[in-house]
Amino acid sequence: MLDEAEKAGRQPRVIQVYREDHAALRRELTQGLMQAQAHCSPKFLYDALGSRLFEAITELPEYYPTRAEAALFAAHGQEIAQALPKGATFLDLGAGNCNKAAALFGQFEPARYVAIDISVRFLQDALQCLQRQHPGMEMWGLGVDFSGGVVLPAPIEQAAAGPRLWFYPGSSIGNFTPDAALDFLRSVRQACGPDKGSGLLIGVDLVKDTPTLEAAYDDALGVTAAFNLNLLLHLNRLLQANFHLPEWRHRAHYDPVQQRIEMHLQARDALTVQWRDESGQPRQRFMQAGQTLHTENSYKWTVHGFSDLLQQAGFGSQRHWTDEAQAFAVFWARAQ
Ligand code: AVJ
Repeated sequence: MLDEAEKAGRQPRVIQVYREDHAALRRELTQGLMQAQAHCSPKFLYDALGSRLFEAITELPEYYPTRAEAALFAAHGQEIAQALPKGATFLDLGAGNCNKAAALFGQFEPARYVAIDISVRFLQDALQCLQRQHPGMEMWGLGVDFSGGVVLPAPIEQAAAGPRLWFYPGSSIGNFTPDAALDFLRSVRQACGPDKGSGLLIGVDLVKDTPTLEAAYDDALGVTAAFNLNLLLHLNRLLQANFHLPEWRHRAHYDPVQQRIEMHLQARDALTVQWRDESGQPRQRFMQAGQTLHTENSYKWTVHGFSDLLQQAGFGSQRHWTDEAQAFAVFWARAQ
């Protein structure tokens, strides 16, 4: 047991692995902008303003996933908790403000919490606040780009003895193509360690009618449009580019064959955009009226499709819960 003085002074341990490489970002962006179908990774949607706009999106009447997932945990939290390992290391992928995970501590009773995001900068304040509320819990902040798969640094690998509860809520898995999602899930399965109780608790947005899906990504208030267009402001800073926002419009459409929402930024009229590449060389791209920059895919899954994917990734027994409207599912997939 910790005495009071130790409790008061307990600090989360933080490890920053990801190093921002400005030249690599410029190279990646230049490459995407020069393709016949220009594209840009959705990670560039999340600068400081973009992250706040995303938070606003989660409160929109049309954007159901966040509410559906919360309703699902409210309705089935107790049953979900009973399916999970006790005294686990709770590993939170894309933790951000840590609110989703913190709301579940009471029911899941983890022994240890590992908040994972691209930068510990985003985690530090929330983690410190959480540590004061849970002085007995060991807490870690890990800054890593896990989009290519999860790997734990040695100190956390060693600390995370016993069962591991990987947590990937919010349907962020929807940003991966099915092939990339399979690779990613395999890496999580590997990172479950040897304990038989380990597994993955993951939120997945489900296939549904096109109007509901398209409204969620093209809301009447225009917040998603602002979120998408803000990417151009971010690129202007990263690339010294001259994207002029009034020349672009937000587009979101659902492709029922690929089961994905595609977000694009569409040139209203013919235009040329200029920027500087990783060597500081001037570059440009001509866009015809109606041509687009593809900014995000958000894949939707059926319960069967996602269940198959988890099985292909090597997970063992699984369970799932859905909200009343069957809009959203949470899967608990055991490592073995
Ligand atoms: C954070 C990837 C889950 O795909 O629904 C919301 C991002 N984009 N509105 C999603 C997003 C436009 C969101 N994810």
